[in-house]
Amino acid sequence: MGLTHHPKVKEAAIRAIEKYGTGCSGSRFLNGTIDLHLELEAKLAKFMNKEEALVFSTGFQTNLGAISCLVGENDIVFSDSENHASIIEGIRLTPGKRVIYEHNNMQELRAKLEKYQDAPGKFVVADGVFSMTGELCRLKELVDVTQLGGIITKSLSWKPRDGNPPRRIVPHPPAGRAPSRHG
Ligand SMILES: Cc1ncc(COP(=O)(O)O)c(C=O)c1O
Repeated sequence: MGLTHHPKVKEAAIRAIEKYGTGCSGSRFLNGTIDLHLELEAKLAKFMNKEEALVFSTGFQTNLGAISCLVGENDIVFSDSENHASIIEGIRLTPGKRVIYEHNNMQELRAKLEKYQDAPGKFVVADGVFSMTGELCRLKELVDVTQLGGIITKSLSWKPRDGNPPRRIVPHPPAGRAPSRHG
């Protein structure tokens, strides 16, 4: 959002350091939750008209945390073959079965959903913006396909603010590091 150097953000950060020091000395799970986290989460929940909100520090953690909680033992996750590494790792943490469909191929997704129509829980997950190419998820078609079976569809990754793919200025993944792949 480009707010890092906004004067009000900088002033608030300085005030926070004066009161809390330079860190929380622990993870949220242990001793790292302070009143500022709770205040932010309460405001976000109100803004989104939801009962509660939980803030993760990174997108990667969001996908790990959310996907791994939402999928149970007998559920099936349908995952786009080009999904981000964080989604792939989140799925790996679930006890459910994983079914990969060809990138943005809604016909194949539909066929796979039909094949597993008797599964108790089905979870379809796709990036809003596919980070390797900047390509957008075919959200409307995806929702149409999944609603046939009354399935809840949730795009957990970021969406473009202005409708344009994001500009990526660094190689992804960084040179020398193997990308996470389904398999
Ligand atoms: C589609 C997508 N989801 C999630 C992430 C992870 O976000 P973060 O860098 O905040 O962990 C990225 C990062 O590049 C991404 O491209």
